[in-house]
Amino acid sequence: MKKVFIKTYGCQMNVRDSEAVTALLRARGYGIAGQETDADIILLNTCSVRDLAEQKALGKMTGLAHTKKRKPGLILGYLGCMAQSRGAELLKLPAVNLVVGTQKFHHIPDYLDELTGRSGVPAATGVGKIVDIAAETGSESAVKHHTPGKVTAYVSIMQGCDMACTFCIVPATRGSERSRVIPEIVDEIRQLVDTGVKEVTLLGQIVTSFGRKKSEFVKLLTAVDAIPGVERIRFTSPHPQGFGDDLVAAYGDLAKLCEHAHLPAQSGSDRILQAMRRSYNRAKYLKIIEKLRAARPGIALTTDIIVGFPGETEEDFAATADLLRAVQFDQGYIFKYSKRRDTPAATMPDQVPEVVKDDRNQVALAIVNAAALCHNTGLIGQTVEILVEGRSAKGAKRMLGRTRTNKIVVFAGTEPQAGQLLPIKIERATTVALYGND
Ligand code: SAH
Ligand code: F3S
Repeated sequence: MKKVFIKTYGCQMNVRDSEAVTALLRARGYGIAGQETDADIILLNTCSVRDLAEQKALGKMTGLAHTKKRKPGLILGYLGCMAQSRGAELLKLPAVNLVVGTQKFHHIPDYLDELTGRSGVPAATGVGKIVDIAAETGSESAVKHHTPGKVTAYVSIMQGCDMACTFCIVPATRGSERSRVIPEIVDEIRQLVDTGVKEVTLLGQIVTSFGRKKSEFVKLLTAVDAIPGVERIRFTSPHPQGFGDDLVAAYGDLAKLCEHAHLPAQSGSDRILQAMRRSYNRAKYLKIIEKLRAARPGIALTTDIIVGFPGETEEDFAATADLLRAVQFDQGYIFKYSKRRDTPAATMPDQVPEVVKDDRNQVALAIVNAAALCHNTGLIGQTVEILVEGRSAKGAKRMLGRTRTNKIVVFAGTEPQAGQLLPIKIERATTVALYGND
């Protein structure tokens, strides 16, 4: 039996896609290798959102090409966003056999059958190189993931994004918005619940635009909330503009919707927000935060920030730093602006030097970390409900779970507790995790 290893870069959507491809390949009779060295087929599911992510995957593939010299039968492929945005260019490395874009994952078993000779065509005379990246509608519901034994699951509800933020490559790699229909999603979640899933994360590049119609996303949340056996609902990635009064109210009304909202601010400067083509300004953003905190006291808030966007002055950055201080996010992800090909920002004047980006990154990180630590230490002595996900690390004795506010909790527990909702008293905290009874 040929064994496959998939290495995943990037966001939760990629994690879900890799799980889906794994499930398809398992069903087709492929083995899943626990580690790269045991695999006959290695697929890199790639991310394009920043240059660093692309460089990591390119470097990895170069290393694998060397391995292939010793193991000539090894099949190597690129999947995902880089495959989509770079296409056939990735075949330049002669060792690469397969390049499959984001909307063609369901064809992967067929392609591997061809490449391995399983489809009846002897491998030696069969196709050696396959590139498949053309857009295909409907592919988002063709691949469902199903990893038995997991208590949390990702469910794709839509793909693509029509927003065209000037820094972002996602509309190019994931295409325009396509949403699944509510009954189909509800049906998938019911099946997941039957296998023991208790928490679902609804996924898409801009989930708040689900269904395109006003309030459609809230309708979906309400339908998922009504499914017996679902204990917790999360979603990512949203757009601040999607947090209308209906969604804010849902945080007050839907018991299963976890008290956590990710609101990618990107910048605290109106001038930069406009240049980024974000559809809100600082005041609107802060208003949403205020409404959410009123609708669900204690709600955890997280954000994404880009530092060093073209034209960002000291004053603009000060406005971002000020926003971070004002909101006191539970967690924040700070990114240094990275030029992406064919995006408007890549050719804007006044690109910010790398050293300046580094400095601003450090400043923003320090603010975010201080706020995170403050929120986390505030929980010491309190008892929180966690959903136990599994061991905290391979072989470790401690177990790991998450609070409804999406904070990681490590505690002294046992394997059979996986899948249980447990009260845990918090004894210690860092910027990234909470610790209980240890
Ligand atoms: N809604 C999308 C956003 C993807 S990008 C999703 O999650 O599917 C995630 C974050 O990466 C963005 O919120 C932004 O802060 C950051 N990002 C996107 N493009 C970037 C770029 N060119 N340089 C630096 N950071 C970027
Ligand atoms: Fe990218 Fe903006 Fe859409 S960040 S994914 S274009 S909302």
